[in-house]
Amino acid sequence: MATEIEMVAMRAARAAGKIHLKRLSRITIDRKSNSIDLVTEADRESEAAVIQVIQRAFPTHAILAEESGASAHHSEHRWIIDPLDGTTNFAHAFPQFCVSIAYQRRGETRLGVIYDALHRECFTAQRGHGAKLNGKPIKVSATSAIGSALLATGFPYDRRERRRFYLSFWEAFMMRSQGVRRTGAAALDLANVAIGRTDGFWEFGLKAWDVAAGGLIVEEAGGAVSNMDGSALEIDGGNILASNARIHAEMLSTIAETRPEADRRHAAMLREDAAAPGSPPRAG
Ligand code: IPD
Ligand code: CA
Ligand code: CA
Repeated sequence: MATEIEMVAMRAARAAGKIHLKRLSRITIDRKSNSIDLVTEADRESEAAVIQVIQRAFPTHAILAEESGASAHHSEHRWIIDPLDGTTNFAHAFPQFCVSIAYQRRGETRLGVIYDALHRECFTAQRGHGAKLNGKPIKVSATSAIGSALLATGFPYDRRERRRFYLSFWEAFMMRSQGVRRTGAAALDLANVAIGRTDGFWEFGLKAWDVAAGGLIVEEAGGAVSNMDGSALEIDGGNILASNARIHAEMLSTIAETRPEADRRHAAMLREDAAAPGSPPRAG
């Protein structure tokens, strides 16, 4: 039996998905923190729709949403919303985007919903009750070594400023795995780990709304999620590693081994940029 929380989350996700599909053919784009950090009418409109559905059902619950921030009041019940994950994809009509909604009670994520309206895929998980795609149970892959793994990653919006740092990890994983994908929607990257389409995912600089729902869905599908040093995931911490659990240790050691070289390359890049300002073009 679906709980009221679950029904409200699904209703909110469907409302957002409807707006994504309606807006896809007429997209208006604005910029946020820099020239590659975009926001569309679909982000704002779908966020308003999700918040309206939640507030109608639970007027006292707190909300943290990407475009409008945190609600002024506090509550032990909190909803964390990315109304449109994959905005750059959406802005180019590249078919990888979704809405991500998580519900927390006393700081613990209890429910996650990720809805990809274009592909009609709705990933859900309730803590302790497994993960599902369109109502059917899902589980992570059985891949037991990075050498046989397909991995995914993403790059945050400071990717031009920290390109060498991020690309060092891409290179390390590319050399050790069967392939690395960059889909452009972190929530779907997590859903893909949960259903076994990929075996692992790492990304620096993510926000709570990118990972709250997907992190739970991966765990409930039998996978592992952590910070990049292996400690328990802090959803506000930014740096996430998610996997089918079997290759988690190998991914952690790859990150640890690569980090000194990534820091060194980043420092060298800063020196080069200071010596030749303006090249390559800065985001902004
Ligand atoms: C972004 C996407 C992307 C990831 C970025 C996120 P947005 O979210 O998830 O895959 O690489 O770090 O910020 O801006 O499309 O909601
Ligand atoms: Ca996002
Ligand atoms: Ca977003």
